[in-house]
Parts: sequence; C-alpha cells; structure tokens
Amino acid sequence: MAKEVAPSVKKLRKKQSSKTERKGDLAPNPEMWAALNDGQLLNEIIADFYAQVFVDPQLAHFFKDSTQQRAKEKLYLFMKGIFTGEKCYFGERPRNAHHWMVISDELFDHREKLMEETLRKHHLAEPLIEQWIAVDEIYRKQIVKSTAFGKKVGGIEIPAEGYEVDTLTVGSLCDVCEAELDPGTKITYHVRTGKVFCSNCTPENAAL
Ligand code: HEM
Repeated sequence: MAKEVAPSVKKLRKKQSSKTERKGDLAPNPEMWAALNDGQLLNEIIADFYAQVFVDPQLAHFFKDSTQQRAKEKLYLFMKGIFTGEKCYFGERPRNAHHWMVISDELFDHREKLMEETLRKHHLAEPLIEQWIAVDEIYRKQIVKSTAFGKKVGGIEIPAEGYEVDTLTVGSLCDVCEAELDPGTKITYHVRTGKVFCSNCTPENAAL
C-alpha cells in the first residue's frame, strides 16, 4: 500500500522538482518567489525602482501620462505571473505595451542597470539577480526599436501617433482647458492617448 505523504512534504517535493526541472528563463521559479518573500520584497523592489524611474532624466518622460501606482501594480503582477506561473497578469504584452516608445539598446541597458542596482540594494542573491535580468532580456527584442509602431489588436494595427476629428455623442471635457463639451461638439483627439482637444485648444499638427 502506498505510504501517505504529509502535505508539507508534498509541497516541498513539488517545489524542489519545479526548481530542478526549470526549463528556460520564463519557467516558474519557486526559489525566486521564496527569496522575494512571497511578493512582499517584490513590492518593495518595484516601489523603489519606479521611484527612481519617475525622476530619471532618460526615463521619466515616458511616464508623463501615467502614475507610479499604475506602473507598480502592472509590473508587480507581470513579474509575479512569471515567477509563480500563476495567471495573475491581464495587462498588455510587452510588444503592445511599449509600441509607441522609441527605446534604444542603450536606454534598455540603462533601465536594466537601474533594476540590477535596485535588486542588489534589496539584497537579492547574485544568482537570482542574474535570473531576473535574464527575464528582462527576453523582452529586449520586442521593446527596443528605432521607430514607434502601431499596437496590434486582433491582428489589426492601431496607429501609435496622430490625431483624428470626431463628434461627441456624450458630454466630455477638453483635456487642455477643461471646458465642458456638449454632445454634438466637434473635437480632435489623440489616437493613442485618447486626449480630447476642444476647438480652442486644437494641437498644431492635428488632422483637420
Ligand atoms: C527602457 C525600457 C522600458 C521603458 C522606457 C518602459 C516604459 C514603460 C511605460 C511608459 C509603460 C506604460 C505605463 C502606463 O501605461 O501606465 C510601461 C508599461 C509596462 N512595462 Fe515597460 N518599459 C521598459 C521596459 C520594460 C521591461 C524590460 C519590462 C518587463 C520585463 C516591462 C514591463 C512593462 C509592463 C508589464 C507594463 C504594463 C503594460 C500595460 O499597461 O498593460 N517594461 N513600460
């Protein structure tokens, strides 16, 4: 008769086997997750990382329409999903998320160095720092580019930059002067950010 195995031993065996059987840098990484204190340290690392990114002369401008809270939550769930193998990240894939950003190899290296220094500052072991950076490296070829490209949604490419003119079907506010805009008002909007411009604030290069 098979001997009953205690749940704690089962858990440990599962942990050990997934550790020894790790295939590829995106495979679940229980050792990493344990070192990240089941996410608590991951949270601290990401908070510290974005606090630096949001004042970094080369990186901050990419986040001008975003908030640290949003960036932190997205990256936390993205990394948690990779390290644990859980399906907990429902955001954009890296290619689409960064489609409008012109990011050189040098800029990618700069962000990577910032991340590496932050991981070291929070005392993650060197082999784990290497494993984390190996994950980031997987996305380099999807993120680095010399010109922006449109986001692909259901196989259709949505433009990254430019303006369209439309007529409001519901009331809104101008994102520049905050004037109230009634249904039926003709507005200009940015195709990626959705920023709305009233007729007084129309950007110079808008398609009129
Ligand atoms: C120089 C390199 C990078 C820059 C400048 C950059 C910048 C940004 C910016 C501005 C956003 C949008 C934030 C927002 O919408 O609120 C973003 C989103 C994101 N980035 Fe990066 N990023 C870089 C590299 C990376 C790398 C290497 C990873 C992962 C390994 C990553 C993962 C993400 C994720 C998961 C999101 C959220 C996507 C979503 O909105 O659903 N980024 N990034």
